[in-house]
Amino acid sequence: MNQRSHSLRLSPADLRLEVPLGTRLQDILFGQGVEFPCGGRGRCKGCRVKVLRGDLPISPEDAQLLTKADQAAGWRLACRHSVAGDLELELAQWEMSVLGDDNKFAFVPAEGLGVAIDLGTTTIAAQLLDLRSGNVLGVRTALNAQARHGGDIMSRVEFALNGGQEELQRLVRDQLGQMVIEMLNELKPTAKGTSQQLIRVVIVGNTVMHHICCGVNIAPMAAYPFEPTQPGRVRFSPQDLGWQLSGDASVEFLPCLGGFVGSDILAGIMATGLHESRGLIALMDLGTNGEVVVGNRERMLCTSTAAGPAFEGARIWMGMRAATGAISAVQVENNAFTCRVIGGGEPRGLCGSGLVDAVAAGLQLEWIHPSGRMVNRKEMPLAGSVLLSATDVRELQLAKGAIAAGLRMLTAKFGASLEDLEQIHLAGAFGNYISRASAQRIGLLRVPLDRVVPAGNTALLGAKRALFEKAATWDDIGKRVEHLALNEDPSFHDIYAEEMGFPSCA
Ligand code: FES
Repeated sequence: MNQRSHSLRLSPADLRLEVPLGTRLQDILFGQGVEFPCGGRGRCKGCRVKVLRGDLPISPEDAQLLTKADQAAGWRLACRHSVAGDLELELAQWEMSVLGDDNKFAFVPAEGLGVAIDLGTTTIAAQLLDLRSGNVLGVRTALNAQARHGGDIMSRVEFALNGGQEELQRLVRDQLGQMVIEMLNELKPTAKGTSQQLIRVVIVGNTVMHHICCGVNIAPMAAYPFEPTQPGRVRFSPQDLGWQLSGDASVEFLPCLGGFVGSDILAGIMATGLHESRGLIALMDLGTNGEVVVGNRERMLCTSTAAGPAFEGARIWMGMRAATGAISAVQVENNAFTCRVIGGGEPRGLCGSGLVDAVAAGLQLEWIHPSGRMVNRKEMPLAGSVLLSATDVRELQLAKGAIAAGLRMLTAKFGASLEDLEQIHLAGAFGNYISRASAQRIGLLRVPLDRVVPAGNTALLGAKRALFEKAATWDDIGKRVEHLALNEDPSFHDIYAEEMGFPSCA
């Protein structure tokens, strides 16, 4: 970078640019697909950006159009600013939708209020419940504030190992406390009365989020055998966490199941009823660590597979998260690709569901060979300037091969095959948006489509169910789940290699 240019990082798409000093933000962002509804006259607020790092002094138009709280939180009107230093900005127009939950479930009514929180690496979803009626009284979703120290889980671990664990802990505890307080404040003019009624907060998340939030040393998670050395504390008072709340609510983090299988998966088991099922069913969470559970009311096995970040759009040439501008779906029509772009407009990249679709479409057109090799080409143009490269196909093979191998091996431990699975629940946002047909076409799910259930935010639903259960109940379910490290199984690498290929025909 020369002296006259500065770095500009844009979230949540994690785009990094080098821009000349003094360039108007409008000129840069317009080229990235950001719209300026009032033409950049400072009249509409449509171009809001949030300063995550760096400095943009409040302009007269910012002061006029934005609330004091928004200004203090770092929001500015992009059209009224130029680049004067290194910057990291979050774009309101690129907001990612965070998966909530509106499922109904049976419960035994209790007194007071409860809050369920799904603490994800990227996003956080929280709901405030009336424990008497089960009604959802408040909802908050947000990007995880830790994202300023790394978008994916491994960069978060790295930051923690380099002395940043306390900073990550402070960020997440503050953010969760703020979300809880905001939901309570919405109920009454002051939080005082309602905070006394808050009985319980249940948090679920992956093992890294658990360690950071609960203050457990993360170092053992970063080296073989990648297991926590101690379970760590899981129950706190709001005051322990620095939350400005009166009352004596219990804040509980559900226990993790093993190495990289967190309490979000335990919550998923509770949400899908896997632990009470007569038949054999599976739960899969497709992410950097693809977690798989197979079981029934007699026995449950879980594992995590190092799928790599392809499903999250990372390590893909033009990959990005499922935010505005991402190609999220690809279909073949008249021997050409038709792409759906999140938010409409020009495509800027390819997210996980688009990647799965693109490869399935390439297989359909026979532009991609079942071995994964591209036929007579090095890349596949999709839409606009967005391409699928041969390396991207390889990354997807690694990801889907690991997860498919995990599912196959766990199922085999029951003396069963994939055909014996009565249902496969796909958890999380990616599981919700992935095309089941494309997942079947690439060999990720080798079962009839009617057995595949997009299960939504099972982590949040399970956390809500846990609000009505004794801690001993979820502890008991957790203890019944056996954690297997499949990569230590001598047959793993052969099965993984087999599963990396694509089926020859649909
Ligand atoms: S584009 Fe309307 S305020 Fe910036």
